[in-house]
Amino acid sequence: MTSKSQKSQVKFYSGEEIPLELHKVRIVQKLHLVPIERRLEALNEGGFNTFQLNTTDVFLDMLTDSGTNAMSDNQLAAMMRADDAYAGSQSFYRLQKAVEEVLGKKYYLPVHQGRAAENILAAAYVNKTSLVPMNYHFTTALAHISQNGGRIVELLYPEAYVINSTHPFKGNMNVEALEDCIQRTGAEHIPFIRMEASTNLIGGQPFSIQNLRDVRAIADKYGIRIVLDASLLGENAYLVKQREKEFKDKSMAEILLTMTGLADLVYFSARKLSSSRGGGICTNDLTIYHELEALVPLYEGFLTYGGISIREVEAMAVGLYETLDESMISQSPSFIKYLVEEAMKKGIPMITPPGVLGAHVDAMDFCKHIPQTQYPAGSLAAAFFLISGVRGMERGSISNQRDEEGNETYADMELLRLAVPRRVFTLSQIKYVLDRLSWLYDNRELIGGLRFTYEPTVLRFFMGKLAPTSDWPEQLVAKFRKDFGDSL
Ligand code: F0G
Repeated sequence: MTSKSQKSQVKFYSGEEIPLELHKVRIVQKLHLVPIERRLEALNEGGFNTFQLNTTDVFLDMLTDSGTNAMSDNQLAAMMRADDAYAGSQSFYRLQKAVEEVLGKKYYLPVHQGRAAENILAAAYVNKTSLVPMNYHFTTALAHISQNGGRIVELLYPEAYVINSTHPFKGNMNVEALEDCIQRTGAEHIPFIRMEASTNLIGGQPFSIQNLRDVRAIADKYGIRIVLDASLLGENAYLVKQREKEFKDKSMAEILLTMTGLADLVYFSARKLSSSRGGGICTNDLTIYHELEALVPLYEGFLTYGGISIREVEAMAVGLYETLDESMISQSPSFIKYLVEEAMKKGIPMITPPGVLGAHVDAMDFCKHIPQTQYPAGSLAAAFFLISGVRGMERGSISNQRDEEGNETYADMELLRLAVPRRVFTLSQIKYVLDRLSWLYDNRELIGGLRFTYEPTVLRFFMGKLAPTSDWPEQLVAKFRKDFGDSL
């Protein structure tokens, strides 16, 4: 399969800087752009939580890239030859080979999605005395560690929290703080160090390979394992190639193997990396493999399917090889870069540098007038859906969980994430997003706050229901009608 780097940037004679699609569309799905009045009803029905919307009311679904990246013709073709067998499926062995060739790990345990891997790792290694240092948490990783009685500590450099930055690697782990933390905690209480590629909740920001090497050196000094969350590894590797000098002429294959080679254990959500379903844990250490092996049949399914349909197993294998194709892996980051840079030109506060997975709007700045107690990011997500039909995701305090005493823990950043799944949207759709975002920015004073009316204790952002603190949604609808007439 292709490992040669391919030019993804095409220069236009006009001088216009726009990302060019290097694929063609062969299967399409009709979208629904319903009137704003219906969108308001939908928000009321869904408790102002974008997770609770039905896609019949959604125009552009920018909730997540999870399970929504476009599949390739080769993936679909591979799905047709799925060897359905409970045990010993040929499809599994093809996937195992892909994991070994692309991620460089011999032993592979399939799981149905990323959080299933987190469940297994936490069940195997975390207890009440555990502290897991990480560059930053992801919601499900934290939830599984907490469920097993463990705690986490986030060790980023201050730069990571700077909204407008030119730092190329805001996801870098603070290695001085890591060493200090290990000395204070005692290595015996640290089951592993978790490094998340393209740190999701701070705006899809990568770490550098040099940083991972530094973390490796400390891990070796204290005899602690490194767990790499590789769910967004392809994009992190692409940004390493763009931003880390040493790797500018290296192939994606070489960069990926260098990264995974620095970790004892790699796990991933194949809903993001490689395909649209599935996940896995892989390692070259047979001891680790045996420590985890029994948990897969317990929670997931037999070791040669891991709760994934065999068709998806085939798609994962092909998708892993496709991760090596720079023209494929660069599509989403280059669209995100365009979206972020154009939004900034309109004065909209965005996280910079542009990262991966999606464009991130700084809701704390966009909605300066909404206090964190009224969830500015959740409010912005609801308001943006209302006026555009574009569904983004709140990544702020609603996505946080309460502390042991039941107090709110306010997020470091209040973000509206507009995900750009791979090869799904066209440039004119991105322009529509920019147009409506810019209108909302000019009318931002009309956006009001939210309060919980139903609040689950675990991962509350998924099923929680909220209500507006005033009639601000109705006021936004009125202003929209005034400015846009009968436009959808
Ligand atoms: N790790 C990271 C970095 C993730 O972004 C995700 C999921 C997971 C683990 C869990 O994987 O969903 O397959 O169980 N992120 C999705 C998102 C949900 O929308 O960012 P999963």
